[in-house]
Amino acid sequence: MAKYNIAVIPGDGTGPEVTREAVKVAKAAAEKFGFELALTEYDFGATRYLKTGETLSDESLEELGGYDSILLGAIGDPKVAPGILEKGVLLKARFGLDQYINLRPVKLYPGVSCPITGKGPDEIDYTVVRENVGGLYTGTGGFTMKGTQHEVAVQSCVYSRYQVERCLRYAFEYARKYGKKARGKGENNTLALVGKTNVLTYVFDLWERAFNEIGDADYPDVKREYYHVDAVCLYMIQSPEMFDVMVTSNMFGDIVTDLGAITQGGLGIAAGGNINPEGVSMFEPIGGTAPSFTGQNVINPLAAICSGAMMLRSLGEDEAATAIEDAVKWGTANKFKSMAAGEMGYGTDEVGDMIAAKVSE
Ligand code: IPM
Ligand code: MN
Repeated sequence: MAKYNIAVIPGDGTGPEVTREAVKVAKAAAEKFGFELALTEYDFGATRYLKTGETLSDESLEELGGYDSILLGAIGDPKVAPGILEKGVLLKARFGLDQYINLRPVKLYPGVSCPITGKGPDEIDYTVVRENVGGLYTGTGGFTMKGTQHEVAVQSCVYSRYQVERCLRYAFEYARKYGKKARGKGENNTLALVGKTNVLTYVFDLWERAFNEIGDADYPDVKREYYHVDAVCLYMIQSPEMFDVMVTSNMFGDIVTDLGAITQGGLGIAAGGNINPEGVSMFEPIGGTAPSFTGQNVINPLAAICSGAMMLRSLGEDEAATAIEDAVKWGTANKFKSMAAGEMGYGTDEVGDMIAAKVSE
């Protein structure tokens, strides 16, 4: 029987509540499809930081690198200054494990009400490939004359050709394999580059040249499109059906995927994965710690559950992943009233129970 060693980082706020349900469902799938999940829990996040001052040490990072995969809830706490836990734990893991892709499907599940009138699951069904270890997130920069009237702050967007190229290649492969044509839903597999070539004339010139060169040389079968990031936000609302696979920088990807999330019913249903195709990946819902809902058993665990499904798929357990996704579709179509916290009609744990039971059927 296949056995996978998984590090579980429930994290802060509602992270532990949703992670518990993701684990419950993943375990039900393991039982059903005949593999074993050996889980080791870690308390990285606010609790450990406030007790010991520790975020994620180099030793812990190395330890995480020894697992088959990582399942994470959410990181961040209002009691800790912004940036400390995000940079110290979440971004440290992403960068340290070189998880250079953040894969974020924007998918409207059946029965979920879409805030865009007239749009349904057929229209909202695309994937954002967000570059995950470069750009503005490298934190390159600093202050000069901090605290004075002449203060200057610089934070640079840094991309190397190597970083851009490996991200684009992943996105082209993804489009070829899972694009609309591959899924029998369109005439082409299409990859759209999202940038800002009209203003960020260095960074996105690099992205665009690499995009066209790699596309011409190795992916002539994948249709290419380009959108400025501001325009893409407009189209994501006006005509989301025009998208298939999108690839973009770290910062733009962060922003457009929150917008995408609301079109799929909210952060409660938006899953994601930080992927190192050659190494250890880490799966997490794209939303945050939702501090105001902590401990109330009202937060929606479906995003975490679907992130668990993405994890199983990355481990090669496709059947298990599909069974979880199908169970979630069954739940959204038949059971859950809303994707918003407190409005599902069931508690967080009941949602997990129902999906786990459906997977086990
Ligand atoms: C996300 C989050 C993180 C990010 C934060 C918590 C650092 O917003 O995963 O989208 O900006 O990447
Ligand atoms: Mn974000």
